[in-house]
Amino acid sequence: LRIAVLFGGRSAEHDVSILSATNVMSALDPAKYDVVPIYVSPRGTWLLSRFEDGKLALPETGMQLALVPGGKGRLLALPPEGGALDMPAIDILFPVLHGLHGEDGSVQGLAEVADVPLAGCGILGSATALDKDIAKRLFRDAGLSAARSLTLHSHAVPSFEELTEALGLPVFLKPARQGSSVGVSKVTSAEGYAAALQEGFRHDRKLLAEEFIKGREIECAVLERPDGTLFVSRPGEIVPAESHGFYSYDAKYIDADGAALMVPTELPEQVEAEMLDMAARAFRALGCDGMARADFFVTADMRILVNELNTIPGFTDISMYSKVMAASGVPYAELIDRLVEHGLA
Ligand code: DAL
Ligand code: MG
Repeated sequence: LRIAVLFGGRSAEHDVSILSATNVMSALDPAKYDVVPIYVSPRGTWLLSRFEDGKLALPETGMQLALVPGGKGRLLALPPEGGALDMPAIDILFPVLHGLHGEDGSVQGLAEVADVPLAGCGILGSATALDKDIAKRLFRDAGLSAARSLTLHSHAVPSFEELTEALGLPVFLKPARQGSSVGVSKVTSAEGYAAALQEGFRHDRKLLAEEFIKGREIECAVLERPDGTLFVSRPGEIVPAESHGFYSYDAKYIDADGAALMVPTELPEQVEAEMLDMAARAFRALGCDGMARADFFVTADMRILVNELNTIPGFTDISMYSKVMAASGVPYAELIDRLVEHGLA
């Protein structure tokens, strides 16, 4: 089976995607899969790359690739000197891209247009999950508890007084369409608010201001079976180091001791059951299919609030999706097999 793995990409999570894809490709059984690694440059060019002995080669120029619309996986290689060469058609596209232009429905739409099967979530669920503002509204509509929030557009920003009146302090300010906590600030003062707005708007024209929830960060993995029923994993907990204040980009990927993962985590049985049910409902509410990681806050009095869904969750060494799946009886290689099976169904 020829599987094209897309990684890198135009979003701020370019480097995270490379880590994720390295792990995914290492888990692909060479006896079953013929992998076509496609590096998406920061400018968005698809370049044929190499994956050997667990290492990725990241070309800066070279053979550009193009999927042919309606081509059932037909892939063309465009050499720098011009012309086009036919490559063997791919059987499935597996985007391991995080954030915009990859996790947001765009590449999923491209797969649809190219008429090639896709591993993971389709267009609609990808688009709704990536937009924290839209996702929040759909969660509320489905009766799922979530942190209170305001949506901020650059042309209509509430004053600091309006912000704190609505949400108290501290407040988290997040770009609506970013992942890995890129551009996220914790606001505790008027000066901090101004700086946070500036930082947030560097990444998106739309921001989400959210009330601070004092609670634990707990996540579970949702994997759709080919027949459309859902498998939800046991939850795992993220314990960020005190020094980071919150689970920031640095705590995630830069500082090796930035956070600890506890899988499984300690939760009363009925709280865990409620979380698993909420994960499935959130998945349906956003119109997801394939897979997603559902992220929650759990307060001291055991209130569960859904934070977000990630339709292409991190597959880095510190990432939760594969860890909670493994703890629930689905090891890495089988997880990939199941995603492929779902995509081909
Ligand atoms: N956006 C990152 C990769 C995650 O959710 O794991
Ligand atoms: Mg995310």
